[in-house]
Amino acid sequence: MIIQLRKVTRTFPVRNDRVTALADVNLEIEAGKLICLCGPSGSGKSTLLFTMGGMLRPDSGTVRVLDRDLYALSKSERAAFRASQLGFIFQDFHLVPYLTVRENVLLPLGHLKKSAQSNQQDCDQLLARLGLSHRLDHKPRQLSAGERQRTAIARATLLKPPILLADEPTGNLDEDSAEEVYRLLTEYREQGGTVLVVTHTRSAWTYADQVIQIVEGQLQVNPSVHRTGTSPLRHSTEG
Ligand SMILES: Nc1ncnc2c1ncn2[C@@H]1O[C@H](COP(=O)(O)OP(=O)(O)O)[C@@H](O)[C@H]1O
Ligand SMILES: [Mg+2]
Repeated sequence: MIIQLRKVTRTFPVRNDRVTALADVNLEIEAGKLICLCGPSGSGKSTLLFTMGGMLRPDSGTVRVLDRDLYALSKSERAAFRASQLGFIFQDFHLVPYLTVRENVLLPLGHLKKSAQSNQQDCDQLLARLGLSHRLDHKPRQLSAGERQRTAIARATLLKPPILLADEPTGNLDEDSAEEVYRLLTEYREQGGTVLVVTHTRSAWTYADQVIQIVEGQLQVNPSVHRTGTSPLRHSTEG
């Protein structure tokens, strides 16, 4: 198991009360799978993703990722682990507005030992594969939403982390761009990556090896939904 959660609970203070975002969650994710996580707004999807990503400490329970007990690591160990082992993709891209596409993609690599030269070559090759060769020196505001998300995908995948975590990555995209994003995530899985994607898009389920439903902080695993290999956006009412 590449990710393993045991009895994970997370609450947040709200006025004089606490809201339970994750309630005693147990979850195991196998390496090399593409998992869709879905559920209503406020059901705990982002909390779960950030908890797995080492960015949000649970109140109780353990989170093991690649055989590390994430929250037993020191803050700096956890940050280093995150930088080398995890890639993050967000709904609103999280690009730095005053940096170019290439600079955004290279940004997280500042502390790594690889030479700037080879980084830049890898970066340009990856951006070419994502159809962004003509955008290397553009700023995010000069890009379409789909191009922005492809830039964010390049940033998340340049170092080929074993795990990609994506929080509603197609929420701000049109259908064609969304399909392209799912194609890229699927490709990443095919190359051996493990991909966990939060999505409201039922059509994305056709890409998934497994669909996990979360309702009020509790998981419901549905083993009967499996990847069919068909194009997703033609099946948007299936489920
Ligand atoms: N930082 C926070 N402060 C207070 N409440 C929060 C915070 N983050 C999440 N919550 C609450 O936790 C619950 C789950 O939120 P979230 O994980 O963002 O849901 P989802 O991503 O499924 O929409 C919601 O009730 C939300 O209001
Ligand atoms: Mg969310």
